[in-house]
Amino acid sequence: MKPIVSKEIEDYASAHSAMESEVCRLIREETYRTQEAPQMLVGPLEAAFLKVMIQALRARRVLEIGTFTGYSALAMAEALPDEGKIITCEVDRDAASMAHTFWDRSPHGKKIEVRIGPALETLTTLAGPFDVIFIDADKINYVAYYRRGLELLSPQGVILIDNVLWSGEVLKTGSQDPSTGAIQELNRTVVSDPRVTAVLLTLRDGLFMITRKPGS
Ligand SMILES: C[S@@+](CC[C@H](N)C(=O)[O-])C[C@H]1O[C@@H](n2cnc3c(N)ncnc32)[C@H](O)[C@@H]1O
Repeated sequence: MKPIVSKEIEDYASAHSAMESEVCRLIREETYRTQEAPQMLVGPLEAAFLKVMIQALRARRVLEIGTFTGYSALAMAEALPDEGKIITCEVDRDAASMAHTFWDRSPHGKKIEVRIGPALETLTTLAGPFDVIFIDADKINYVAYYRRGLELLSPQGVILIDNVLWSGEVLKTGSQDPSTGAIQELNRTVVSDPRVTAVLLTLRDGLFMITRKPGS
């Protein structure tokens, strides 16, 4: 992942944002030690943003698409009240099982329930409403996740979609890369959807923040 914002600025922003918990730090370190693509986890700055969103919305029910080793799920769980709940979808059993070993070490882990399988299938089995929906899985299905996410979203809820700048690749017209094409399509779909108000934030690799317009 090519940084959109310089490392110095990102480090400064992280140092002035909500601190990473001890268990999240352990997940991050173990993920970087053992996984091929550790940069897939959101990291401390974006995790702080997720926490602020959850608390600002007084969220109770959260849906995550893309668990990986459980870093963002735990960060969000830490921001939820005791009765709060996160359902997180993951296709890779090994990643989910590593996530569990860390969640079990945190008092907030009990708020997380992982659903194993292709997320598009899992989403057909879920009932809303969710207050926050965080989409961070295979880019090819981003438009489908967004469409289903909107059906599952509470009226005041927020959908957050990660990697929507894709290291700046979204600027390339006519790109042959399927993930780039899928993200470009998602970005066009969201900005032209009359039901929502959205802002594409230049946070880390690009984060879409989307909410329903009143009455839609
Ligand atoms: C970017 S990582 C998620 C990172 C995580 N949100 C974090 O920040 O800690 C994306 C994850 O989505 C999972 N994934 C990919 N395709 C999927 C699918 N069709 N259904 C469910 N999960 C999928 C991958 O196995 C991977 O673990």
